Amino acid sequence: MSTAAVDASGRREHDLAAPLLVASDVVKEFPVGASSPWRRSREVVHAVSGVSLEIRRGETLGLVGETGCGKSTLARCLARLYDVTSGSISFDGTDITASSRRRLRPVRREIQMVFQDPYGSLNPRRRVGSIIGDPLAIHGDTDGRSMSAKERAHRVQDLMELVGLNPEHYNRFPADFSGGQRQRIGLARALALRPRLLICDEPVSALDVSIQAQMLNLLIDLQEDLHLTYLFITHDLSVVRHISDRIAVMYLGRIVETAPADELFEVTRHPYSKALLSALPVADPQEAEARERIVLVGDLPSPVAPPSGCRFHPRCPKARHDCVSVDPDLVPVLDDPPEHRAACLHPLRVGEELVGQVPDLDAQDSEIVAERVTDPGGA
Ligand SMILES: Nc1ncnc2c1ncn2[C@@H]1O[C@H](COP(=O)(O)OP(=O)(O)OP(=O)(O)O)[C@@H](O)[C@H]1O
Ligand code: SF4
Ligand SMILES: [Mg+2]
Repeated sequence: MSTAAVDASGRREHDLAAPLLVASDVVKEFPVGASSPWRRSREVVHAVSGVSLEIRRGETLGLVGETGCGKSTLARCLARLYDVTSGSISFDGTDITASSRRRLRPVRREIQMVFQDPYGSLNPRRRVGSIIGDPLAIHGDTDGRSMSAKERAHRVQDLMELVGLNPEHYNRFPADFSGGQRQRIGLARALALRPRLLICDEPVSALDVSIQAQMLNLLIDLQEDLHLTYLFITHDLSVVRHISDRIAVMYLGRIVETAPADELFEVTRHPYSKALLSALPVADPQEAEARERIVLVGDLPSPVAPPSGCRFHPRCPKARHDCVSVDPDLVPVLDDPPEHRAACLHPLRVGEELVGQVPDLDAQDSEIVAERVTDPGGA
C-alpha cells in the first residue's frame, strides 16, 4: 500500500517516489462488423494488446509509432475515457481500472488531454472564454467549490495569459484565432483544473514548423512552472527526442522498446525502433550523408488478425523461426540497464545495421522488405 500525505496545496500526495501512473497488461479490443446468426463471433480490432508502462512524476514519456499502431487508443485507456478490455491502470497509487463515474470525477481533474485538432474540439459558435471556462463550470475550483461567473472569468483570463494568449480576446470566437492560437486555447482548457498528468496526442502535428517550436517551448516551460507530467504522443521523431525524458516505441498494439531518450537513439535494440529512428532528420550534413534510412516495405498488418509470435516478424530482416511462435517479453536485453527494455528475441548489437531481406519463414524463400536508402537531406 502506498503512503499518503497532504502537500502544500492540500492534495493527497501518495508516495512521491512511486510512478504517477502505472498500466499493467492493458488490452483494448473493439468489436467490429455486424454480428449475425450465421457468424459465431464478431471480428475484433486488437488496438492495444498487453501494454505495461509507467509514467513517473515530472517526466515526459514520449510515445511513438506509425499510424494505426494504437497510440491514441492507449492514451484514452490511460485517461479512462475508454474502459479497458482487461488489465489495470492505477493513478497516484489508486486503481482506477473499474472506477465508477462518480469515483472517476477527481481523476478527471488530474488527467487531461490535448488533441491534435483543436479546431475540431472547439465549438465555433462559442466564445473562447466560455470554452476555456467549461471545466471550471463543470468541476468547480481546484477544491471542488463552485465558482461564480466573475471568478471564472478572472481564472480564464489568467489561463489565457499563461499560455500566451491575449486575455482581452476572451470574447472572440475560435475562427478569429490562428491554428497555433487555437492549440493554445485547447491547452488553456486542459490546464484549467490544474491537472497533474497532461496527455498530449499529436499536439503540434497540425502546426507549421516555426509555430511547432513555440508550442513545444511553451509546453516545456509550463511543465517546469506547474510541475506537470506529460505523456507526449507523436510520430515526429525529432519532436519526441527534443521533449522526452524517456521514449516508448509502439508497434501494432504493443510496446516493443522503452528507454531513456538518449539511450534509445544511441543503443537501439529493436529492429522496428531502428527502422523508425533511421528516418530522423540529421542537422550535420556529414552525418546525414553517412546516415542510411531504412525503409520498411509493406503496410502495418491488420490489427484484426495480428501476426503470431512477434508481431513484427513479417517485416523484420532479423526474423528467425522462433519469432513466428514466441511473443517476446519487454525486458532488458544484452546487459542493458533495467530502464532499457526491448521485446525482441534477436536484438541488435551496438553498431549492428539492419539490412537485408526478410526471410519468408514458411516458404524458405526471401522477399525484399527492407532496403537501404541514402538520406541526403535527412528528410
Ligand atoms: N472506436 C474504434 N472502433 C474500432 N476500431 C478502432 C476504434 N478506434 C481505433 N480503432 C482502430 O484501432 C487501431 C489503433 O488506432 P489508434 O487511433 O489508436 O492508432 P494511432 O496510433 O493513434 O494512429 P494515428 O497515428 O493515425 O493517430 C486502428 O486500427 C484503428 O482503426
Ligand atoms: S523477435 Fe524476431 S521478428 Fe521480432 S523484432 Fe526481434 S528479430 Fe525481429
Ligand atoms: Mg492517434
